[in-house]
Amino acid sequence: MIFEQKKLNAEQQDFNSIKEKLSALKKTEANGTDLKEPENNKMLPEDDLPFLENDYFSEKSTINSGVGRNKAYGIVTTGVEPLQIDETGANIIGYISASEREQIRLGGYVTIPYKNENLFGKISKLEYRQEFTVDDATEIHSRRMLEKEKRREINEEDYKLLALIDPICILYEKQNQLLRRMADRIPKPNTPILPVTDKKMVQTGLNIPKEGIFLGHLSVGGELVKTESKPSTVAYYLKNDYSTGDPLIFRHMLVCGSTGTGKTFLTKNILRQFLAKTSVYRQRSDLKIEKNPCLVIMDPQDEYSQLYENNSLSEDERFSFESENVVYGGVSDTKTFTAKVDGERYSGKSRAQQVEFTIPFSFIRHNPWILEAAEMPENQRIGYEVLIDDYFKKADQKKETPTYLGFKSFLEDSLNKEYYTEQTGKIHEATYGGIVRKVLNKSYERVFDKDAKPMTALFETMFKPGQISVFPTEYIQSSRIRDLIVLSMMTVIVDNKLGTSGNETVKDTPIILVLDEAHRYLSGASSAQSGKIIHKFSEAAKQGRKEGLGLFLITQDPQDIETEILKQVNTKVILNLNNDAAINAVKVPKEYEKRVPYLKKGQMIIHSPDNGDIVEITGLSNCVVKHQ
Ligand SMILES: Nc1ncnc2c1ncn2[C@@H]1O[C@H](COP(=O)(O)OP(=O)(O)OP(=O)(O)O)[C@@H](O)[C@H]1O
Ligand SMILES: [Mg+2]
Repeated sequence: MIFEQKKLNAEQQDFNSIKEKLSALKKTEANGTDLKEPENNKMLPEDDLPFLENDYFSEKSTINSGVGRNKAYGIVTTGVEPLQIDETGANIIGYISASEREQIRLGGYVTIPYKNENLFGKISKLEYRQEFTVDDATEIHSRRMLEKEKRREINEEDYKLLALIDPICILYEKQNQLLRRMADRIPKPNTPILPVTDKKMVQTGLNIPKEGIFLGHLSVGGELVKTESKPSTVAYYLKNDYSTGDPLIFRHMLVCGSTGTGKTFLTKNILRQFLAKTSVYRQRSDLKIEKNPCLVIMDPQDEYSQLYENNSLSEDERFSFESENVVYGGVSDTKTFTAKVDGERYSGKSRAQQVEFTIPFSFIRHNPWILEAAEMPENQRIGYEVLIDDYFKKADQKKETPTYLGFKSFLEDSLNKEYYTEQTGKIHEATYGGIVRKVLNKSYERVFDKDAKPMTALFETMFKPGQISVFPTEYIQSSRIRDLIVLSMMTVIVDNKLGTSGNETVKDTPIILVLDEAHRYLSGASSAQSGKIIHKFSEAAKQGRKEGLGLFLITQDPQDIETEILKQVNTKVILNLNNDAAINAVKVPKEYEKRVPYLKKGQMIIHSPDNGDIVEITGLSNCVVKHQ
């Protein structure tokens, strides 16, 4: 008896509070009471209710809601809290029908129809409440539940499942085109909440381009979003034309994820798309000329020359790639460029053509910092630059080709040493000694001026539209030499692209520079070397758009990439990251931040504000080229 009385009291209280809220909203009492009583709808004029039962299922319906699964998740309610929308957000609560509760997911997309337009939104909160007031936090109740054989099974009808819906936009049609605008109206109470089954609605709702570079399929919590169209998946593309500004690759891209999360696999799939025949960019010096890009890949683990080879794909896979304009198959125009280094040999992981090159010491004239591998104190650096400058001038006078060995003998010449340290006092003796120890490193002898074409004479072979130029470095043991080669190539590209007197071939070729393990080269550490390259790359990132230079950075440590550079990156592809510093560095909205450590292989968050809303997508489960 007491229990019954308590229950009645509680119900009365609930009822009163609802009444208060509703009268505040100047609504009728009947309009806001128990959601299970559809006869309450009679209080609204028929005209305002295009959603009376069956209407939204009927074929005649004018609402382009994409209803096909024909099963609403539930209805919009005012019974629990007022329905409201203001400048800062909205409070739209839906009651989810018992039979649909298994389907519903946080982050899932839904539509709520009006008479001739739709609200497009996302589920941002799910909450169970009791249907009838009972105190289940009791010893007796808990024991009873634990004793039950199938104790997990509850009677859904004893509970309300409420979903908070975050409006994304209003979808409306104008001249047969589906458009979106800010969510500026509130759904009517009792309107059905529908799953989105129309591909166009998803694409427009999330503002994602319908063509471009294929990155993956829209998903929620790892499950692909399925529509009624064929194919049912919703492809996510990155804008690759000039319809709304420059192609986004020239505003740079970052792929980040912890080790082994599939960065290289995904990158290969993305890079291959840039070599579609239709992927062309305007030549900077003559905008009427359009060219395919040249992909220049710095490849520390010798994985990218496989872009040359086909992957074995089933007919079904090929068919599904074709139906979504996913480009696949090896690129015959792939070359590997290997620096000739004494004592090292590149064997090659693919049958792509190999071209050997060497770094001429003359390259150091304008880039002396490349040799400052071991950090030099300021006085040594100044002394070193004087010595380099004088050596090159002397070589000019003597009409000699400057070489590393020539510079070595110049430094070791006791007359020269005396001149700098004693006669002129330009460099202190101890400083001179320090410079010699750092610059005369055995590693350097193995790299400069070898018996191969100098890289500076190979620009036309290296930077060719439609070509993939891979620079593997794994075959070289010494990390100092590996860095020297990568830094030299990075410098060659950026200097020629940005410099007013840069090489025409480099200038006129749209280049996508791919840097795996980008944190190694672009971290804001204090060495003279990193300072120089970071300065160059900050400039490159800022000017890349007009110069036709796109940076494609890959890293497991985005937090180590200099913020000046990271700020310029417009498209961020975030795979699973498991440390807070890395997650903070990529700066995504909180609700997405929380998901990053749970992303499974192939699952990623795409943050590309000039392309579309931030979304989760799932990449292809197969590689469009070989990947081993
Ligand atoms: N979407 C995917 N579906 C299936 N397998 C995948 C997927 N992505 C990656 N893999 C597999 O996972 C493994 C690791 O992938 P990958 O080499 O691309 O990772 P990574 O992030 O580049 O690793 P590292 O940090 O070592 O460079 C590979 O064997 C690859 O084939
Ligand atoms: Mg990798």
